Amino acid sequence: MAIFKNNITHPEPVVPQHIAIIMDGNGRWAKRRGLPRTAGHKKGANNFRTIADYMNKIGVKYMTFYAFSTENWKRSKEEIEIIMDLFKDYLEEALDRFEETDMRMVFIGDRSVLKPELVALMDKIEAVSKDHKGAVVNMAINYGGRQEITAACKRIAQKVKDGVLDPDEIDEDLISANIFTAGQPDPDLIIRPSGEFRLSNFLIWQSAYSEFWFDNVMWPEFSTKDLDRAIRDYSNRQRRFGGVK
Ligand code: FPP
Repeated sequence: MAIFKNNITHPEPVVPQHIAIIMDGNGRWAKRRGLPRTAGHKKGANNFRTIADYMNKIGVKYMTFYAFSTENWKRSKEEIEIIMDLFKDYLEEALDRFEETDMRMVFIGDRSVLKPELVALMDKIEAVSKDHKGAVVNMAINYGGRQEITAACKRIAQKVKDGVLDPDEIDEDLISANIFTAGQPDPDLIIRPSGEFRLSNFLIWQSAYSEFWFDNVMWPEFSTKDLDRAIRDYSNRQRRFGGVK
């Protein structure tokens, strides 16, 4: 029996079915150590491996990582290239080891502007891991929530124009079925380290009833203990989804 804040006890932490993480603070972590920002991204990429494996081990069924937003193109060419190289390294490694893992990889975001060799790797990993029975790992690359909803609107409008959909049939389920996370449960818990308190265009449709956890630790140092703390706090919350309990 664990004791949580407010002296409320909870027998077992409740593991959220879907955890989403904004991997923020790589640049500041590096700057504070007199290192280039890119060193922070390298350490951040390693921490992604640690946290994803841990979440799979403790039974998280879906996880979504915000790796590169539609706004991150505003960064220097050098920084963007290093981040893209880190994706490539990870994907090559994951492809080499795909038989050792039971996780399923899904990429969310607009891949049309990414380098063809990166897109080829993404397609390949999705194909080889599609029957894996472990956690689903959504990696958001060139992802933006507004872009995602805009694309869904266009698809739906096209169906109306083609005469295959009546506007009266447009409902929340139809929109959910036309976004990248179609068929997946919405995130139960969204975590943002680095002391920032905003969503930054991440999962804006899916987060309508998500719980949030903000932490001051920078992403490269966000540990499994920090994650446990977030999950314990989450376990103690009462989710009402607009109803009364
Ligand atoms: C946000 O921190 C981080 C990013 C925009 C890039 C995230 C990329 C990685 C963690 C590497 C990805 C690789 C894999 C394999 C997942 P920031 O740079 O905005 O930090 P700051 O706010 O301190 O400047």
